[in-house]
Amino acid sequence: MSLEDIDISAWTALETAASDPQSGFRYLNLCTVDTAGNPQARMVVLRRVDRLARILEFHTDTRSPKWQEIAAHPRVTVVGYGHQQKLQLRLEGTIKQYTFESQQASAAWRGLSARTRSTYAGGPPGDSLAFHAAADDASTQPLDDAEGLAHFGVLILHVNTLDWFQLSRENNQRAWLTYTDSGALHASKWINP
Ligand SMILES: Cc1cc2nc3c(=O)[nH]c(=O)nc-3n(C[C@H](O)[C@H](O)[C@H](O)COP(=O)(O)O)c2cc1C
Repeated sequence: MSLEDIDISAWTALETAASDPQSGFRYLNLCTVDTAGNPQARMVVLRRVDRLARILEFHTDTRSPKWQEIAAHPRVTVVGYGHQQKLQLRLEGTIKQYTFESQQASAAWRGLSARTRSTYAGGPPGDSLAFHAAADDASTQPLDDAEGLAHFGVLILHVNTLDWFQLSRENNQRAWLTYTDSGALHASKWINP
């Protein structure tokens, strides 16, 4: 496979994952630096990919710690593993944040199911629970769409580098690709795994 093919296939895998819940890259690990300078990581759902602009989109609650962390340190790393392809993708770039008043958040909100929207209507993520409601109780509570929207945030990651690593019994392979701000492939090379 050529470096150009690697670029194409990696972004095809990401694009597929944004619409296929079974795909290996559907859930990615979003890594940030917190306000104390410590590393933080958590799983997020890959919601949208723009392969030409080299954009990955994630959704989160604007009250969550990660939202504040990214506001202070917008450079992040995202890592995922596709079990079937035995492929690790590590992407680095800068996140832009969009709150509910933005066009980006409105468009994303329109595409969400009522069930997903309702996850933004609860208490602030990470706050202590006063009581642990049974799952059955929670599902019977009315959903407040407007309240959920007020906490809804879109994270748009503009990818600058891709570290591509394929596991193989005989010969692990690794490639390093960089992109310009407009999303063009800037440079690519094979590196030692
Ligand atoms: C499979 C999986 C997918 C998740 N997807 C998201 C997501 O898309 N957005 C999100 O904010 N949290 C998501 N979470 C929860 C986060 O991993 C995390 O626990 C939560 O957002 C709090 O993160 P923070 O305290 O670093 O802000 C997901 C958790 C799992 C297990």
